[in-house]
Amino acid sequence: MHDAVSIISAKRDGRELTDAQIDWVIESFTRGVVADEQMSALAMAIYFRGMTRREVARWTAAMVASGRRLDFSRLPRPTVDKHSTGGVGDKITLPLAPLVAACGAAVPQLSGRGLGHTGGTLDKLEAIRGWRADLDAAKVAEILSDPAVGAVVCAAGADLAPADKRLYALRDVTGTVESIPLIASSIMSKKIAEGTGALVLDVKVGSGAFMKKLDDARELAQTMVGLGADEGVRTVALLTAMDAPLGYTAGNALEVRESLEVLAGGGPSDVVELTLALAREMLWSVGIDDVDPEQKLRDGSAMDRWRAMIGAQGGDPDAPLPQARHTEVLLSEADGVVCELDAMAVGLAAWKLGAGRARPGESVQAGAGVELHAKPGDGVSAGTPLVTLHTDTPERFAAAKRALTSAWTIQPYTPMVTTPLVIERIEDPSG
Ligand code: URA
Repeated sequence: MHDAVSIISAKRDGRELTDAQIDWVIESFTRGVVADEQMSALAMAIYFRGMTRREVARWTAAMVASGRRLDFSRLPRPTVDKHSTGGVGDKITLPLAPLVAACGAAVPQLSGRGLGHTGGTLDKLEAIRGWRADLDAAKVAEILSDPAVGAVVCAAGADLAPADKRLYALRDVTGTVESIPLIASSIMSKKIAEGTGALVLDVKVGSGAFMKKLDDARELAQTMVGLGADEGVRTVALLTAMDAPLGYTAGNALEVRESLEVLAGGGPSDVVELTLALAREMLWSVGIDDVDPEQKLRDGSAMDRWRAMIGAQGGDPDAPLPQARHTEVLLSEADGVVCELDAMAVGLAAWKLGAGRARPGESVQAGAGVELHAKPGDGVSAGTPLVTLHTDTPERFAAAKRALTSAWTIQPYTPMVTTPLVIERIEDPSG
């Protein structure tokens, strides 16, 4: 017979937990037998002591088993999803899901909502009139099977990895989020329960990301790729740069607008590059190697899928996007070249303007956010616009401006050292 105190003490003292101990503690926590304070203490012990490869795999499997595991294996097309560990201006799912569907795969993307400085995909799509995030599993399967749609982005039901939902809420308030085994098992338990056949991970690294250091991002990616392989989900990870925001917008409707530019064959080059890199990985992972995603952006088929995907979830793709009631433009004080732009500062400013929430359940402003006019590599002159702030509540401008105080570094002449957007690719060595 197990008990929470001896499991917490074992991990505190650096011992490896057995499979039976892990199964028991996750199952008992899900049933409310292990109390929140005990699980929080265990999370802190894991934070300091880590977990072995075997422990993380078992922990992940136990969290998957705490709820329902969807199964799309009978769909006529292979399923593949993408997960990003979160970045500023990261709107990639919006063009990517319909693009990959247009190339012949089915994309079941069950997402969470944004909290803090990175925006949530569901919040972005909810800027579109009528669009609904809550679908039941039957509706998800119906949309995925529809040959004219094939992509769903919706809220993950409460029955998918419920142990993770409860544990994540505790970690959020006990300083135990930043643990690689806990992050890896949290993300992968949800993705495995979602029932996707293959998964591409976009693991962000840099000032605007969870993982600030390349070695940590690599370890997280390798752990997640291994967990996917253990559960039969073919998983590949790209480590990608998140020092500057992606594209020129951060904020819900603003990001939808920029995604539409990409789907129309234009858009910012970094957003296009990352969308195509992830699309190619997704298609490769399900064995589709005879379709060029770039062509699908150019010929309008990705845009057609977008319209079908939005319509299938009640949205009106032709409705005008909401606009914030107030804007304020900040001007450059110097002539020169932008050599740095701090993604975290931009994310915080968008959040302060009302694009994000501080607590789960709060509402967000669809039109709020930050529109950049200059990014690293762009020339600016004193008096020209650097950024436009958007909000419905102008009393928020001051906080956003404070967040942006030293976001830009502008120098008279800068030999630009450009870091590649896609830094590294990681796949399961045995796969
Ligand atoms: N995202 C998750 O889903 N879980 C974590 O632990 C961190 C980020």
